Amino acid sequence: MRSSLIAFDPASTAIPVHPVDRDGTAGLLQSLGGMAHVLAQTSGFEGTAGQVLLVPDAEGAPVAVLFGVAKDAPPFTLGDLARKLPGGDYRLVCAPGEQHDAALGFALSSYRFDRYRKPADKPRPRLMVGEGVDLARLGHILDGVGLARDLVNTPASDLGPAELTDAALKLFADHGGRVRVIEGDALLDEGFPMVHAVGRASDRAPRLVDAVWGEEDHPKVTLVGKGVVFDTGGLDIKPSSGMALMKKDMGGAASVLALASMVMAAGLPVRLRVIIPAVENAISGSAFRPGDVLASRKGISVEIGNTDAEGRLILADALALADEDAPDLVIDMATLTGAARVALGPDLPPFYTDDEDFASDLARHAEAARDPLWRMPLWRPYESYLDSRIADINHINTSGAGFAGSITAALFLSRFVEKAATWVHFDIYGWNPADRPGRPQGGEAQAARALFDLLANRYPGR
Ligand code: BES
Ligand code: MN
Ligand code: ZN
Repeated sequence: MRSSLIAFDPASTAIPVHPVDRDGTAGLLQSLGGMAHVLAQTSGFEGTAGQVLLVPDAEGAPVAVLFGVAKDAPPFTLGDLARKLPGGDYRLVCAPGEQHDAALGFALSSYRFDRYRKPADKPRPRLMVGEGVDLARLGHILDGVGLARDLVNTPASDLGPAELTDAALKLFADHGGRVRVIEGDALLDEGFPMVHAVGRASDRAPRLVDAVWGEEDHPKVTLVGKGVVFDTGGLDIKPSSGMALMKKDMGGAASVLALASMVMAAGLPVRLRVIIPAVENAISGSAFRPGDVLASRKGISVEIGNTDAEGRLILADALALADEDAPDLVIDMATLTGAARVALGPDLPPFYTDDEDFASDLARHAEAARDPLWRMPLWRPYESYLDSRIADINHINTSGAGFAGSITAALFLSRFVEKAATWVHFDIYGWNPADRPGRPQGGEAQAARALFDLLANRYPGR
């Protein structure tokens, strides 16, 4: 997705693109001289947000581009140029501080998912950048995001637990990591009863991926991602409206792989571990049922309130494993609840942690990375919602009212993490509902860029 779209060229002679608002348009047209003014008039260019004006020389070759941008335009607005400009080499006339965001937005906008169709055959624009843009770092970010988007966009027919596992295997092989995969009934022998229970109804056997990379004595950073390749809801089957998008229910795993890709490519001095429970929440005679009581890796017995709350079950076993070697940091990401979307909408994933420093750091990095996140509380008084009459705990809110769905899910997970110095949970959506600059419709790697920014800052390389 990346290399051909952006190139380093400090003394660029590429076509200049001038971002301009309505107030600045007249002055800019005047300074460009020639035909620019007439052209703007005949084409109705007024510097309205989103408008593009190509200014040609006497031979008809473009010499400048005007791009209408509202005052205080949101980040990545310039990224829209990736979809609006004809093929050719361009450079942006903007402040050095704005170059990185513009380049990131441009590249993130350029993404296309071409697995099932011919690639667009019209030539694509290329952005030339100077010293102000760290192209290597940009490349690490884009590779990670591209991987996650491809995985989420791939339908469940072509991305089962095996294929999701393969994606992790390939990524870690590319960076010299090691991967252990526990598959099918071996999950019972190795102590992952809930991963097995959720995944056993599918013809495609459940798996647990456990991958490591980096030097043994570096700080331990462990990532856990929900890898439900398709969520029918199980016996508590989803209505068609709720099931329609459920190929994206491995969005947590995809975002975790995106972050891992960035961390490894950048060579951050951490001991990275990635744990992905990869299952299909399917329906068959062997499906787990409402009312069942499951054993868990941690030894806590869990009463099943609703088979559609499958994500927290597989994450619980994965988090218990993650916690066993007392890492410095455990991060989990999951498309966990519809309630998170009711609270904050699709673009603003909530995160949960008891670590105040981490929370304020993350808020800062989320803003800097243009990867918005919002902290929500691990409100302990709601733990009583998870009471069970026959097991240690229920995995859903049993109070009868559907209160605080995202918080109760987070509280359930918190029961499986004890030793990690810091634990952070993300309830992501993993999907852009519509095309916007830098955010093409379809799968999205939420929280990965913000966390990469934070980790790169905490663990700077040599
Ligand atoms: N994968 C869904 C949550 C989800 C739905 C995320 C839509 C993003 C968009 C999860 O497995 C689920 O079904 N959660 C239930 C839990 C409920 C049964 C307690 C939910 O949120 O409705
Ligand atoms: Mn579900
Ligand atoms: Zn789910």
